[in-house]
Amino acid sequence: MKKILFVASEAVPFIKTGGLADVVGSLPKCFNKEYYDVRVMIPKYLCIKQEWRDKMDYIDHFYMDYMGQSRYVGIMHYEHEGIHFYFIDNEGYFSGPKPYGDWLYDLEKFSFFCNAALSALPVIGFQPDVVHCHDWQTGLIPVYLKDRFRGGEFFCNMKSVFTIHNLKFQGVWDVKTIQRFSGLSNYYFAPDKLEAYKDGNLLKGGVVFADAITTVSDTYAEEIKMPFYGEGLDGLMRARSGSLRGIVNGIDYDDFNPATDSMIEQVYDARNFRKEKIKNKRALQRELGLDEDDGRMMIGVVSRLTDQKGFDLIQYVMEDLCSDAIQLVVLGTGEERYENMFRHFAWKYPGKVAALIYYSEPMSHKIYAASDAFLMPSLFEPCGLSQLMALRYGTVPIVRETGGLKDTVEPYNEFEGTGTGFSFTNYNAHEMLASVRYAERVYYDKKREWNKLIDRAMAKDYSWNASALKYQELYDWLIGY
Ligand code: ADP
Ligand code: GLC
Repeated sequence: MKKILFVASEAVPFIKTGGLADVVGSLPKCFNKEYYDVRVMIPKYLCIKQEWRDKMDYIDHFYMDYMGQSRYVGIMHYEHEGIHFYFIDNEGYFSGPKPYGDWLYDLEKFSFFCNAALSALPVIGFQPDVVHCHDWQTGLIPVYLKDRFRGGEFFCNMKSVFTIHNLKFQGVWDVKTIQRFSGLSNYYFAPDKLEAYKDGNLLKGGVVFADAITTVSDTYAEEIKMPFYGEGLDGLMRARSGSLRGIVNGIDYDDFNPATDSMIEQVYDARNFRKEKIKNKRALQRELGLDEDDGRMMIGVVSRLTDQKGFDLIQYVMEDLCSDAIQLVVLGTGEERYENMFRHFAWKYPGKVAALIYYSEPMSHKIYAASDAFLMPSLFEPCGLSQLMALRYGTVPIVRETGGLKDTVEPYNEFEGTGTGFSFTNYNAHEMLASVRYAERVYYDKKREWNKLIDRAMAKDYSWNASALKYQELYDWLIGY
């Protein structure tokens, strides 16, 4: 049995701020259980819902020297859908209202977490062959496995994989501070190790020291070797390109299944969507006070409201969009200027625009099910899960051709009758608008073609099946058998 440990800062169903949580919570279930024992370790945040916290069992605790003090490390456990989840407990560090808050404190908190996660392994008696680390919060683990945790039998053969979900966030502060938090010697603070542009950089530690690096789509794996997407580390990505590969994300096909989803008004599938899917649109129009019109094209957006997701493009042509015969339903939180922009347009165009400025899992499902199209014009997108959810619900994505959006949405070709969505190349508001309007024309003037787009979208398989096999191959290769 090969033993794999996922270490990350979030995982569904316990705590989620974005797609990282979906991946860490759903991928472990999809490995071949006969050969792979995949477990997950995350912090035990106080902001994890009480219903989950109540279910956790206390396993053990110990005290660990960290930054000159002896710190409590509790280990909690809960088995969810056949997967063992471990939770690292320290109320001092993990008590905020959200997993992330103040940058400086987050750096200390996740440095502590990396130390505690590895130290906890002998205590729980789980000796992974591979530690699979996700994003900057776990960047120190590959470093520690080659450094302070190297000696002794328990850790000496442990391999590490580092997956980049978003290169934008790197965990950066001045060298002195990162040195203090990580406890690493001067040796590590050189430009070929954790130092980047004179600062300490935790993600760089993970990328330099991991035995293998992955990112969440093929296109993003190529893009980050270029300055535009490289976030200052494109040189490093080129240097490490022999150990870097893209493995596209999947989604949980049980949680996101229009045929069984209990959060939506009317279930439907690839055979009966023509008749049934519309009932979700009707229900949502009613619930949100939009014009109750079956024929009106509804465009959905479910997203963090940040620059990454292309909201400046939407803002730029929002008046034009609102002059079209569409409805726009936006669910998201994030930068205030975008939150207020959507609130403003919802006020100006009631019946046409709904601005839902909050986080809600059930509402997100209703939007994936009710909308005709799904808009995601990202500036960059390592993979993107929302467009996969849209495809699964027969909601036609309109995306910019970048990262995982490019790899998962096939542009509509009216001559060949192929494609699962609409896309545009340049980061330009009018190109986006042209794509939306092309989609509108197909929706209004060629309904049969539109329905065939839905047929093809729903026939795609973006479950984890194929990608879990690729991770298995990678683990096998690392372990050496
Ligand atoms: P990212 O991780 O960059 O935010 P992804 O597309 O990979 O983007 O994943 C986003 C996930 O978060 C999806 O599961 C999406 O449905 C969900 N999500 C984003 N905003 C909200 C919200 N306001 N309410 C509910 N779910 C949301
Ligand atoms: C990040 C990326 C997103 C990706 C997710 C899961 O949040 O922004 O594109 O889908 O991680 O890998």
